[in-house]
Amino acid sequence: MKIQIINGPNLNLLGKREPGIYGSEGFESFYKQLLAQYPNVELSYYQSNVEGEIINKLHEIGFNYDGIILNAGAYTHTSVAIADAIAGIKTPVVEVHISNVYAREEFRHHSMMAKNCKGIITGFGLMSYELALKSFL
Ligand code: DQA
Repeated sequence: MKIQIINGPNLNLLGKREPGIYGSEGFESFYKQLLAQYPNVELSYYQSNVEGEIINKLHEIGFNYDGIILNAGAYTHTSVAIADAIAGIKTPVVEVHISNVYAREEFRHHSMMAKNCKGIITGFGLMSYELALKSFL
């Protein structure tokens, strides 16, 4: 089973960025634990702050992976282009968020891409990624 995690803008700052909202653990250490916990899953991880690079990644893997776990960060709320890319590929995408976007500002309540995703997991901290992974297993 081949699963790709894609993190969008500012998620490279996890651990340092607004720890009251996003926690104090960096993504790399969490990802290492995930790899150790799920040795039978071919997991890979990609992060970019650039909208077009996220789209290129979706195109590259979107016809040969079994699942994509996508936290598009703020692009979730703005990007028609990422939503179109998800609609255009074959691999199912689960949208994840660390924070509960519905408990935050109004502009975070709308996702451009949700309707093109298999499901959404929001508000469980880094565990959101693990729950998304489990949904594919
Ligand atoms: C986020 C929520 C988004 O609204 C925000 O822009 C992010 C992170 C989350 O994981 O909670 O960058 O996707």
